[in-house]
Amino acid sequence: MATFPHNYVITKDSCIISIDGESYDVTSWRNAHPGGAETLDNFHLKDATDSFFALHSKEAIDKLKRLSKKTTDMKALGIKPTDAALAFREFRK
Ligand code: HEM
Repeated sequence: MATFPHNYVITKDSCIISIDGESYDVTSWRNAHPGGAETLDNFHLKDATDSFFALHSKEAIDKLKRLSKKTTDMKALGIKPTDAALAFREFRK
């Protein structure tokens, strides 16, 4: 069961997520995320493209553009969208 955001204790040293082929280091920003740090931690080193665009406002998308530099080459790490994400993209076509 998910933890209430104010009760969530970060245990991961870093949090890097992939959106639209870019990677974002949200390690220091995650506590400020309105959707909670845990939701971001759950996507550490994963592709969050579909969840991100399905859930967020234009303001959040603008915020993403201002977020910290890309750090990790997700492709080099072999980070790929999950089967569920690929099925969702097909469904949206
Ligand atoms: C690093 C990229 C992200 C940014 C910049 C971001 C930013 C934001 C912002 C600004 C909001 C406030 C509502 C809005 O303006 O849409 C929000 C809400 C939310 N975010 Fe994110 N977010 C990110 C990634 C994610 C991811 C990967 C998830 C995964 C599920 C997520 C889940 C949520 C949820 C569930 C809310 C709604 C909270 C509520 O209304 O109670 N976010 N996010």
